Formats: sequence, C-alpha cells, structure tokens
Amino acid sequence: MKKIIILNGSPRKNWNTYKMCESFAQGVKEAGGEAEIINLYDIDFKGCRSCFACKLKEGKNFGRCSYPDGLTPILDKIAHADGLVVASPIYCSDVTGVTRCFIERLTFPFFEYKEGYPSIAPKKLKTAMIYTMNVPETLSNQMYPDMFDKTEFMIKTVFEKPVRIFAYDTYQFIDYDKYVVEVFDKNKKLKQKEENFPLDLKNAFEEGKNMVNGIINL
Ligand SMILES: Cc1cc2nc3c(=O)[nH]c(=O)nc-3n(C[C@H](O)[C@H](O)[C@H](O)COP(=O)(O)O)c2cc1C
Repeated sequence: MKKIIILNGSPRKNWNTYKMCESFAQGVKEAGGEAEIINLYDIDFKGCRSCFACKLKEGKNFGRCSYPDGLTPILDKIAHADGLVVASPIYCSDVTGVTRCFIERLTFPFFEYKEGYPSIAPKKLKTAMIYTMNVPETLSNQMYPDMFDKTEFMIKTVFEKPVRIFAYDTYQFIDYDKYVVEVFDKNKKLKQKEENFPLDLKNAFEEGKNMVNGIINL
C-alpha cells in the first residue's frame, strides 16, 4: 500500500488548511493508498541548528537529520514514505514559520554539497503543496508566485516537483461581527466558503487520488 504523509503547517485544527489535508487524505484512501496527517504544531521542534552532522564525512548520521527532538522520528518516517504533502496557510506573505522550519530540517540533509548538488534522499518522493490564504486568486497570482517557487525550491531539488493545490479567500473567523475586520465583506466571505471552498476540497481530493495513481503507474 502506498503511504502518503501529510504535514499540516497550520496551528488551527479543523480549519481551512486541515480540511484541505483531510480531503487530500480521503482521495489517497479512495485510490487504495494510506494517508497520515501530522500536525506540525503538535510537535516540539525548531529549525536546522547547523550542527552539520548530516554532512560529516563517514558520520553515522550522514544524510539524515539526527537532532534529538520531536521531529526527527517523523523525518525518518517521511524519508521512507511514497509521497509527501506540505500544507500551510499564508502568514505575512509566506508559509508559516513552523512550515519553514520543517522544510529546512527535512530537505537540507538530502542536499549534498557536491557538484550539481545531487539528492541523496532514499526515495524520490511524489510531492504536493497545499496553500490556503485570505487573498483571492487574482491577488495571489500577482503577489505570491516567487514565494511559492522559493518555498518549493529545496523540495523539488531533493524530491519531485510539487503539485500546487490552493484554497483562496478563505473564511477566517467563526463570527466576523466579533472582530475588527473592516476590509472584508462577511457576506462575500460566507458565499466563498459555501460555494467555492467545497470545490477546493474536491480538487484536493482529486489530487490525493492522482498522487497515489501516479505512484502506482510509475
Ligand atoms: C498571522 C497571520 C498572517 C496572515 N497573513 C496572510 C497573508 O499575508 N496573506 C493572506 O492571503 N492571508 C494571510 N492570513 C490569512 C490566512 O492565511 C488564511 O486565513 C488561512 O486560510 C488560514 O488557515 P487556517 O484556516 O488553516 O488557519 C494570515 C493569517 C494570520 C493568522
């Protein structure tokens, strides 16, 4: 059975990003695969400490992150999975800090400091990115393409190029009336949530199926 690991880089469980992860996972299962969602905010970890154990000549941890914290066993599990999904809300025009820390820890050990920077990941994983954000699609297309490219650079270098999955213009508060949010029209947001978010979920579901089928048909 093909195993897909999905990392939720949002602190909110059961909100937009998590729901996209769940839909992707359902697609994986529909195609006969196995999916596991891991909430990055539940894990006690930080970014790369620059210890360079992963680059030490003849080091016992060459090519793997051995820093002893909550993320290390998860990194080992991912390295031997068949597919990887990284999901993040956009915070201050970037993925969340926790998501960035995760990408550093996951990818840097597999990036060899040799001519051509070859990948030494045990497997060339299929990958996907899920991005959720407040801005509508048109604004995202103007503002974020470079950020997506930069975020994905190390992932595509050590694994396969990620498929991008989006949920734009997401619903952010349970009750818009309770918060100072003059720039958003709550009725438009509600309409988006009821009409478009289900389509985003459907797209995530289809991409979950596609990932598993893509691995099986290799
Ligand atoms: C600290 C913070 C910063 C944010 N910055 C942005 C931003 O720069 N661009 C954007 O489109 N949305 C931004 N958002 C909105 C979230 O990306 C959006 O609501 C997302 O779907 C939330 O995901 P969640 O429902 O899984 O928590 C921000 C939200 C927070 C809490």
